[in-house]
Amino acid sequence: MNPTQFAVFGHPIGHSLSPRIHQAFAQQFGLALEYRAIDAPPADFAAAVRAFFAAGGAGANVTLPHKAAAFALADQCSPSASRVGTANVLTALPDGRLAAHNTDGDGMVRDITERHGVDLRGHTALLLGAGGAARGVAWNLLDAGVATLTIVNRSPAAADALADAIGEPARAHTRYWQDLADIGSYDLIVNATSAGVLGVPLPLPFSLVGARALCYDLSYGVAASSFLAWAKAADARYAFDGLGMLLETAADAFALWHGQRPETEPVYQLLRQASA
Ligand code: ATR
Repeated sequence: MNPTQFAVFGHPIGHSLSPRIHQAFAQQFGLALEYRAIDAPPADFAAAVRAFFAAGGAGANVTLPHKAAAFALADQCSPSASRVGTANVLTALPDGRLAAHNTDGDGMVRDITERHGVDLRGHTALLLGAGGAARGVAWNLLDAGVATLTIVNRSPAAADALADAIGEPARAHTRYWQDLADIGSYDLIVNATSAGVLGVPLPLPFSLVGARALCYDLSYGVAASSFLAWAKAADARYAFDGLGMLLETAADAFALWHGQRPETEPVYQLLRQASA
């Protein structure tokens, strides 16, 4: 019998760690699976996904820039995907329809609270950015018990739209990017901008960093390096990239597909050593 087929769709996708991660998870349970990285430009995404599932694909991860398109083409959406409007996991249902989930925000919170041991309850949180990545984690930060969520985006309209969608004005509100030097300090600063991925500088004032601040970049590797260097220079108590988030979101997808949650820590350590 052929192994069950899985894939990650993105564009570009060449450096994706997902095939390695899912194979390492599968080994923990003695499962045989095939997991491919499929590069699909936006115009081809829907057709490529349909072809993959029509040929017997069981599940797919979806990364940039396709998360909104993945949500749009699914027949059924989990509450976490519906509130965000994007999906990072597609699963074939027994009747052939596709279900969408979004595991990004849960993955980030689990990485912070369980792997790094930081309880977010009562934290004042600053979310930098209001694009897809920011939307993917905003609600989960509130679910994790942050006291306030301040959303700051270069283009204020997107920050306002996200705060409106959240609809909790007492806790989630916006400030202007040009006022960053005057808005005080925070316990949690999440970089959800794509500046690091694009390789452009993100000048930020050190005054944002509070005494117990945790600075977190949703990306990892080179893309996270300048934000983490800024956090360390500002004496942040913690500075983490999103590698652990990637592992946790992958483990959630694996659990959806296989009904068993893998151990993420050994795979995290392996990838951390490989990138060092
Ligand atoms: P992603 O899916 O990675 O979130 P996106 O939806 O295109 O990608 O959103 C990119 C985010 O990074 C946006 O919040 C963007 O701000 P704008 O809405 O003003 O474009 C932010 N961003 C990108 N480059 C930036 C930069 N150089 N400085 C500040 N914010 C930046």
